[in-house]
Amino acid sequence: MSARRRLHLNAFLMEAGHHEAAWRLPDSNPRADFDLRHWIELARLAENAKFDSLFLADGPALIGTGEFRPPGQLEPLTLLTALSQATSRIGLIATVSSTYNEPYNLARRLASVDHVSGGRAGWNIVTSAGADEAANFGLDDRPGHAERYARADEFLKVAKALWDSWETEAVLADRATGRYADPARLHRLGHQGRYFKVAGPLNVERPPQGYPLLVQAGSSEDGKDFAARHAEAIFTAHTTYERAAAFYADIKARTRAAGRDPDGVIVLPGIVPYIGSTEEEARALARQFDELRVPEYGLRQLAAVFETEPSVFALDDPLPDFILARPKLEGSQSRSDLIIDLAVREQLTVRQIISRLGGGRGHFEFVGTPEQIADTIIAWFEGGAADGFNIMAPALPSGLAAFVEHVLPILRGKGLFREEYESTTLRGHYGLPVPANQFHG
Ligand SMILES: Cc1cc2nc3c(=O)[nH]c(=O)nc-3n(C[C@H](O)[C@H](O)[C@H](O)COP(=O)(O)O)c2cc1C
Repeated sequence: MSARRRLHLNAFLMEAGHHEAAWRLPDSNPRADFDLRHWIELARLAENAKFDSLFLADGPALIGTGEFRPPGQLEPLTLLTALSQATSRIGLIATVSSTYNEPYNLARRLASVDHVSGGRAGWNIVTSAGADEAANFGLDDRPGHAERYARADEFLKVAKALWDSWETEAVLADRATGRYADPARLHRLGHQGRYFKVAGPLNVERPPQGYPLLVQAGSSEDGKDFAARHAEAIFTAHTTYERAAAFYADIKARTRAAGRDPDGVIVLPGIVPYIGSTEEEARALARQFDELRVPEYGLRQLAAVFETEPSVFALDDPLPDFILARPKLEGSQSRSDLIIDLAVREQLTVRQIISRLGGGRGHFEFVGTPEQIADTIIAWFEGGAADGFNIMAPALPSGLAAFVEHVLPILRGKGLFREEYESTTLRGHYGLPVPANQFHG
C-alpha cells in the first residue's frame, strides 16, 4: 500500500508579516527587514515545526515609494546563506529573476547555496512583471510577457546544463597520480541561443541535489506552460477552492502533456490565516490589521497591477470599465485576472478590494479557529486543489507561531504532516528525486 499522501508546508516569510500594515502592530519590529536575528528566529520557528521549506520573495527594485510599507530587503541568496548556517534541515527557497540575471552567474550562486546548505537550496523562477525593475537594468520598459517567458525557458536549459557540466564522478582528487579531476567528465556547453551564448563548464561542482529545487510562480497561460516544462513546485494564488482545483487539474494535465510525471510537480496555493480561539476573536484580529491600513498604499498597489494611475479609482465605486474589460497586460496577468474575478464575483467597491488585498495581495485569506483552518486545508488537499500550502502569516513571528501551535497539531493528529524530518535535503522533503545528469549516459 503506497505511503499516505502528506501535506507539504512552505513558510513564506516577509518582513513583519504579509499584511501591508503588519509593521505598525504594537509588538512588531518595524525594522525587521534588515535584522538578521528576526530572520533566524523565523527560520528556526519553521524548522522546529518541521516545515518542508521557507521562502523569500524578491524583486530587484524598491517596493513602491517606501512611504507606507518597508520597501527594501536583504538580497535573498545572501540571507539564505546566513540562514543555512542557523538551521540544518529546512529547505531554503528564494526568488531570483530570470529576466535580470545571467545563467552562468546565477547557476554558480545557486549551486553554492546548495553546497553550503548541504542540499537545501530552491529557486523560485520569476520573470519580474514590474516596470520599475526594468529601469534598474538599462531598460525603458520591461520585455513583453511572452518574451520574458521565452528567455526564462532558454535560461533554464542553460542553467541545467551548467549544473550537469560537472559529472559527480569528475573529481578524482588522486594525490598519487596528481590528477584532481577527469577532464572528460567536465563538459563544455558551447551553447548558442537566442538570448545566451555560454561556453561552460560551470566552475562549481554539481550541487548535492543535482539542481536546486525548481519553483515557479506565474499562473498565466505562458506561466503554466513554462511550469509544465520546468517546475517541480508551483506557488499560486487563488481566492476560492473552485479556482484552485481548476488550476490544479490544468497544471497536472499540462505537465503530463509535456511528458513529465504530474506527481513530480507539487502545487502550493497561498493561505493567509487569521487565527482566533473563537470566530469573533479571529475577526477582531483581522479588523485590527485592516484598521491600520493606509488606503493610499492599497490604491498604489492596485494601480501597479493594472499598470495605471491611482487617480483612475474612486474608493466607493467598482473597478473602472476599462479595467473590467480586461486589457492585455504585459505585467502580472494571472494576478490582475484574479482581482477582477474577485471584484465581479463579490460586487466589491475599490475600498473593499484594497481591504481584501491588504493581507495577502490576492492569496486566500481565512479568518477563523484552528479547527476551521485545518478543515479548510484538508478540504483543499483531499479535494484535488493542493499538494500543500504557502503559509503566509499576516504578522511575523506571531502569526506563524500561532499556526504552528494551534493548527499543526490538528494536521498531525490526522497523520497529514510529518512529526520529524525523514530527509536532509529540500528535494527529500518534497519527495522528489535528484535529476539525472544529461551528460552522464
Ligand atoms: C507565492 C508567490 C510568490 C511570488 N513571488 C514573487 C517574487 O518573489 N518576485 C516576483 O517578482 N514575483 C513573484 N510572484 C509573482 C509571479 O512571479 C508572477 O509575476 C505573477 O504570478 C504573474 O505571473 P503571470 O503573468 O505568469 O500570471 C509570486 C507569485 C506567487 C503566487
